[in-house]
Amino acid sequence: MSSTTKDAFEHRFHQAAQRHERAWVFLSVVMIAALFIAAVYLVVHDYGVVAKTTHIYADPNTPATLADFQGSGVKQTGPNSYSVYEMGRIWSWTPGSATPLTLPAGAHVTFYVTSGDVLHGFEIQGTSINLTAIPGVVGHVSYTFDKPGTYYIICNEYCGAGHQAMIGKIIITGRAHA
Ligand code: CUA
Repeated sequence: MSSTTKDAFEHRFHQAAQRHERAWVFLSVVMIAALFIAAVYLVVHDYGVVAKTTHIYADPNTPATLADFQGSGVKQTGPNSYSVYEMGRIWSWTPGSATPLTLPAGAHVTFYVTSGDVLHGFEIQGTSINLTAIPGVVGHVSYTFDKPGTYYIICNEYCGAGHQAMIGKIIITGRAHA
């Protein structure tokens, strides 16, 4: 093999190798980009950064549309008992966040808790109340606040950028004299 033939062969070989390398580098970059876009899409749409709520509100079977969860969310059910309908949404509790929830000490209170969008954790600090607010599901828990004072509803389930500010207030007034 003359030196010229060998050079020509090596040149062509080199070109072919470069074509393959370019193709594989391009393919790898496309795969990385596709995975990145898919991950961002998933985070935005499935993990509460932007919650898709419209289809939930449109569903007539979800508690989000039940009359009990509209209006004030508080109903007196007896001389000394109340039902509270709590709706968690990014990032507030209704009732509780916009206006404090006011109840008398010593009353028997049943909380019905649900979510209008993603999972939230319904916890009232200083009490044993702690349940998960699940869209489409109503959890309930009963409690009697013995001491007057201010209690805070916090969210203990990470639900997006405003999670740590998802706070509601409960004011327990002095005992109602029956
Ligand atoms: Cu709601 Cu965290």
